[in-house]
Amino acid sequence: MSQTRANFHTPRHALLRAKITRIRKQETDSATFRRVLAEIGAILASEALRDLPETTATIETPVSRMEAPVLTQPEPCLVAILRAGLGLLDGARMVLPDAPVGHLGLVRDEQTLVPSEYVVRLPKDLARRGALVLDPMLATGGSAIQAIHRVKQAGARVVRFACVVAAPEGVDALQKAHPDVAILAGALDERLNEHGYIVPGLGDAGDRCFGTE
Ligand code: PRP
Ligand code: URA
Repeated sequence: MSQTRANFHTPRHALLRAKITRIRKQETDSATFRRVLAEIGAILASEALRDLPETTATIETPVSRMEAPVLTQPEPCLVAILRAGLGLLDGARMVLPDAPVGHLGLVRDEQTLVPSEYVVRLPKDLARRGALVLDPMLATGGSAIQAIHRVKQAGARVVRFACVVAAPEGVDALQKAHPDVAILAGALDERLNEHGYIVPGLGDAGDRCFGTE
């Protein structure tokens, strides 16, 4: 882990960084964008959950008995912020196949940048499992703040947030609203522009993922 803001980390991970470069490129087509975003989702989910509590259990390998590490709790729920969070979800589910999945539909108003909610479908098990909330973009932070509020309202006590690209403005806003939430970002970019887009960023993640540009 490299960045030093409290509860905010960007992993030092060459493969992750190279994949982010790939989806930043303007010429990357939608099919490639979606596939690489899923690969990034697998890496981010692994990194965000690297400190899950562990214990050991006695198992038999084909060769001998051993004390082997196992998780003490069931896998956390995955919660995707629609639409673009679906792209990360595909990869995250590869590494957390038993995680229940929640969907939160949020869309930013293009003028005010305030998100409005159009769907909420959350798993019942949030209190016991906690949640990893996924969205490629943390821009103003409005969507993540609202999503995490919903997830906590539904019972989650331990919440983590993972994104591909974060703006400093979004990290500050999210930390202020939810100081207990660990934030993992693939990259911390420079700033937001006058339209609320991350610079240099990767453009509109939802449109690029679903070919709606
Ligand atoms: C994008 C992105 C985030 C949000 C980030 O979604 O996927 O959810 O903007 O911006 P914020 O931090 O300022 O809230 P958008 O609202 O464009 O919806 P979409 O995924 O359906 O395109
Ligand atoms: N949402 C996006 O998809 N991209 C940005 O740069 C900001 C918000």
